[in-house]
Amino acid sequence: MAGGQLRVVTLRQPGLAVDLDALAAAITPRTRLLLLNTPHNPTGKVFTRDELTAIAELAVARDILVVTDEVYEHLVFEGVHHPLAGFPDMAERTLTISSAGKTFSCTGWKIGWVCGPADLVAAVRTAKQFLTFVNGAPFQPAVALGLGLGDDVYDDLRDGLRAKRDLLCDGLAAAGLEVFVPQGTYFATVDVRSVGEEDGAAFCRSLPERCGVVAIPSSVFYEDPATGRSLVRFAFCKQTDVLEQAVERLATLTG
Ligand SMILES: Cc1ncc(COP(=O)(O)O)c(C=O)c1O
Repeated sequence: MAGGQLRVVTLRQPGLAVDLDALAAAITPRTRLLLLNTPHNPTGKVFTRDELTAIAELAVARDILVVTDEVYEHLVFEGVHHPLAGFPDMAERTLTISSAGKTFSCTGWKIGWVCGPADLVAAVRTAKQFLTFVNGAPFQPAVALGLGLGDDVYDDLRDGLRAKRDLLCDGLAAAGLEVFVPQGTYFATVDVRSVGEEDGAAFCRSLPERCGVVAIPSSVFYEDPATGRSLVRFAFCKQTDVLEQAVERLATLTG
């Protein structure tokens, strides 16, 4: 809407480390906004404290605003989620996005919230006013109630999803796939070259017929689809018996 131009800094396997030199080079005097997502979809990476410190220092030094999408903030299995707004001098330049869909397992509700300085939140409200205006109004009191629940609710969610992550990732590995086990989110990525294939999109198209399981080609998430050509994303935000069935079906993949 504002005519901005996108410059991406790609996270690459193995390791998914942030290329801080590439990030510094991508920021020009015309840069207004840095968009960050941690824990990160589709890779499942949780940015480290050191990476976030460096990103925050860059944002302050170059005087840019940051929108940080932290919708998976409670779904962290390894490492710790550090909200970017908590780093020195960041609160006044950061808008943080959260989602009830991820935090309370109700993806279809499409209820989220934004935290930040009043003038930036007012700017978000202004844009929202001319888009969908309001969303799922009857659900919003339920989300507000949820936000008052104790930490045990969030711990249970995380522990349950960690078990589901392990169930699916073990099954994918047993099917012969190279698995990148996520530190956070509810997505696991595989590289289909491990089963002798090159094209993740073709693999995903064939998967329902081959074994009755569905996945997403990660190439759709990359500005240059070639970067993620052999990567495929599976979701484990499912009932345990559904995941058990999926694992059984995947076992027939290379058989
Ligand atoms: C990184 C990220 N941000 C935002 C969203 C949107 O969340 P919601 O569906 O709760 O609006 C998603 C959903 O997949 C996501 O992965």
